[in-house]
This record gives sequence, structure tokens and C-alpha cells, in this order.
Amino acid sequence: MTTDSVTFADRYGPWALVLGASHGIGASFARQIAERGLNVVLVARHADPLEETAATLRAATGVEVRTLAVDLTTPDMLDRLVEGTRDLDVGLVVYNAGGTDAVGRFVEGPATRRR
Ligand SMILES: NC(=O)c1ccc[n+]([C@@H]2O[C@H](COP(=O)([O-])OP(=O)(O)OC[C@H]3O[C@@H](n4cnc5c(N)ncnc54)[C@H](OP(=O)(O)O)[C@@H]3O)[C@@H](O)[C@H]2O)c1
Repeated sequence: MTTDSVTFADRYGPWALVLGASHGIGASFARQIAERGLNVVLVARHADPLEETAATLRAATGVEVRTLAVDLTTPDMLDRLVEGTRDLDVGLVVYNAGGTDAVGRFVEGPATRRR
């Protein structure tokens, strides 16, 4: 197989994990990834909007969609993501929410952020 024949799904599939995926930029990432043939796991805090986005995505693209209602700012978030995706082969992660140390004015943030 030549490099040109390797598709996006070949390279990054079969599953993608999108954090902050119920609306906004994350939902758009999820849609574009699903349109390229990857199954997606959608993560956000609130279950109902997640389910609505998942249903829309399934209907539009035909891929498998799983939802995980997880607050990414909580200490156990990594354990919950691992537990929720343990049975999946995840090749792509879009880290689009929950990075609270990057919120606020850059000059007022901790010096460790300015690297
Ligand atoms: N929009 C812009 O112009 C812009 C510019 C620069 C950077 N950004 C960054 O890009 C990212 C997405 O922006 P956006 O405008 O699309 O945001 P948004 O419309 O507020 O969407 C955020 C998504 O993340 C989820 N989310 C928020 N906090 C979460 C948490 N603690 N744990 C899990 N999920 C969480 C939300 O669902 P729930 O509320 O249900 O959790 C939603 O699905 C953000 O990190 C933002 O800071 C945005």
C-alpha cells in the first residue's frame, strides 16, 4: 500500500475520542471525523445534549457513536475515560475542553504556563 492510498480512517481509526463534543467546535470536529469514516466517542458533562449530538451524527454519517458524560476538570476524569473506552481501539484524541489552566488572560496566568 502506498502512502497516497492510506485513508484518514486507516491512519487514525477505527475510533476517535473527542472531548467537549456536544456542541461548538468539538461537535464540528466530531462531525468531520465521522464523515471521514471513524467511529467517535463524544465526551461532555451533560448527558442530554450529548445524546442529541450523537443521534444527529449517527443519522448523518452511519458511524458508531458512544457518549460519555464526564467532567474533565475532576480528578478521576482519566480513569473514567479509560473505563469508558477500554474496549475500543482509539487512534485519535481531540482535546477540546477541560484544560482549565489555559483559561484567563495569558499575562495573569502562572509562569509555568508561559513556556
Ligand atoms: N469559540 C472560540 O472562538 C474559541 C477560541 C479559542 C479557543 N477556544 C477553545 O476551544 C474550545 C471549544 O470552544 P467552543 O466555543 O466550541 O466551546 P463551547 O461551545 O462552550 O463547547 C464546549 C464543549 O465542551 C463541553 N465542556 C465544557 N466544559 C467541560 C468539562 N469541564 N468537561 C467536559 N466537557 C466540557 C461542553 O459541554 P458541557 O457543557 O455539557 O460539558 C461542550 O460540548 C474551548 O476550550 C475554548 O476555550 C474557543
